[in-house]
Amino acid sequence: MSKIHAVITGIGAYAPRYRLTNAELSTIVDTSDEWITKRIGIKERRILKPDEGVGISYLAEKAIEDLKSKNNFNPLEIEAIVFATTTPDYMLPNTACLVAYKTGMNNAFAFDLSAACSGFLYGLEVGRGFIVSGIYKKVLVIAGDVLSVITNYKDRNTCPIFSDACGVALLEATTEDFGIMDSILRSDGNSLEYLNMYGGGSVNPSTHETIDKDLQYIRQEGKVVFKHAITSMTSACEELTKRNNLTKDNIDWLVPHQANLRIIDAVVSRMDIPREKVTINIENYGNSSAGTIPLCMREWESKFRKGDNIILTTFGAGFTWGATYLKWGYNSTNSEQ
Ligand code: UT7
Repeated sequence: MSKIHAVITGIGAYAPRYRLTNAELSTIVDTSDEWITKRIGIKERRILKPDEGVGISYLAEKAIEDLKSKNNFNPLEIEAIVFATTTPDYMLPNTACLVAYKTGMNNAFAFDLSAACSGFLYGLEVGRGFIVSGIYKKVLVIAGDVLSVITNYKDRNTCPIFSDACGVALLEATTEDFGIMDSILRSDGNSLEYLNMYGGGSVNPSTHETIDKDLQYIRQEGKVVFKHAITSMTSACEELTKRNNLTKDNIDWLVPHQANLRIIDAVVSRMDIPREKVTINIENYGNSSAGTIPLCMREWESKFRKGDNIILTTFGAGFTWGATYLKWGYNSTNSEQ
């Protein structure tokens, strides 16, 4: 019997329309366009304005609309929905259920997955497992965040970085030699102190006191995270490419998590990959956590060719990190966003 692979057959994404520029941010917190551009590489980030009264499920619905404009799959054929997010609509019920209901995917079991910025790669791996086991044939992997709701706009160590966006990938079974070929995912829970949001969970449920202490916001030791991000993404990519006989010559695309342009540049230079093979859109979108990789893939989709070797790599809170090797499964026709 031929081996079953899980292949991405469509990708969609959505970022809110509002652009928070460095100039506007500089009126809110003590920073400057020059500092942010030089140290992070962001010019503007997309933000879901609070007065819109919607959350991440809204961005997911829009991303699914975008996907369906190109791949008009039958929602009733989706058997599982994995939604990677750290910013669900509510603590209960899970956001995947809400999206399933709103988009008519009534035959799917739906659940959220929490792996911070690594959510898309973790979600792809879960979806791949479901498919290669032979139990399911169509799985939707959604990944995105509305980080603006857990960002402290008085903290210049975090607020220039974070943004909002969501992406979605349709995974299907195939016996052709395309799809998710391999992946290396890792985690290290000994790093809580370096990147966290301490409030709102079962240790520190929200109270007036936790709010007074700003525990409802992301905090990070930027320098520590920065160093770990570079070494972890590089080592995951090196191990993955080595065991799949991939070199700088036969890798067609590298799609890195967009956290800081200097992190991307360091990983790219260590892997010795030409920069034109690297998808980078941090300048215009910022870091939307689980959303960055599918958002980039959506933007570059029209350039991806069937058979291209694509490496995705990520790093985030946990720490969680990893790399995934895709052999791309289609040539897109009409896919400009
Ligand atoms: O998605 C995964 C999660 N997060 C990350 O991947 C983030 C990884 N870390 C980073 O991207 C960087 O560490 C930051 C962007 C957070 C900070 O950049 P840095 O180059 O590591 O700056 P720093 O913290 O070492 O600060 C250098 C200087 C300090 O001033 P002094 O002490 O040298 O006078 C800071 O006070 O820059 C100052 N600074 C700022 N100045 C203007 C820090 N943030 C800002 C700011 N605007 N926003």
